[in-house]
Amino acid sequence: MKLIDWIDLPNLGDERGGLVVAEASKNIPFDIKRLYYIFDAKPDIPRGFHAHKELHQVAFCIKGKCRMLMDNGLEKQEVWMDEANKGLMIPPMVWHEMHDFSEDCVLLVLASDYYDESDYIRDYQAFLVELKNERV
Ligand code: TYD
Repeated sequence: MKLIDWIDLPNLGDERGGLVVAEASKNIPFDIKRLYYIFDAKPDIPRGFHAHKELHQVAFCIKGKCRMLMDNGLEKQEVWMDEANKGLMIPPMVWHEMHDFSEDCVLLVLASDYYDESDYIRDYQAFLVELKNERV
């Protein structure tokens, strides 16, 4: 699977403004059980720094911009998120970090499951070890 995988949702907007629709198991490739959003983040304070064991997520920067670093242990890539209709897939076992939030940034995340701290890997070395164990 590609490390950077966007979901392009159509903008159904018109002269009245933008409108983007996400539907579980239709244009979002999982059943959405949770959504959360990050706002008022500080430009100089990055967030994330974890991977998930099982969780699938898709992140939309619906206002402003931020830079997302994605790392599958073999390859690292950075992308700017600044389009409200473009969702970045965050599959299991991808270390991700969010940097350089604009002050107006609103990052909306759709998730395939409820919050579960035991699904998080918050230590980078532990992430690499887990990947190695998966490969054998
Ligand atoms: P954290 O994982 O540190 O956020 P980020 O990945 O953006 O750096 O989450 C901050 C706190 O919020 C942490 O105590 C866990 C809690 N939290 C929930 O309770 N439910 C959730 O759905 C999320 C995403 C976080």
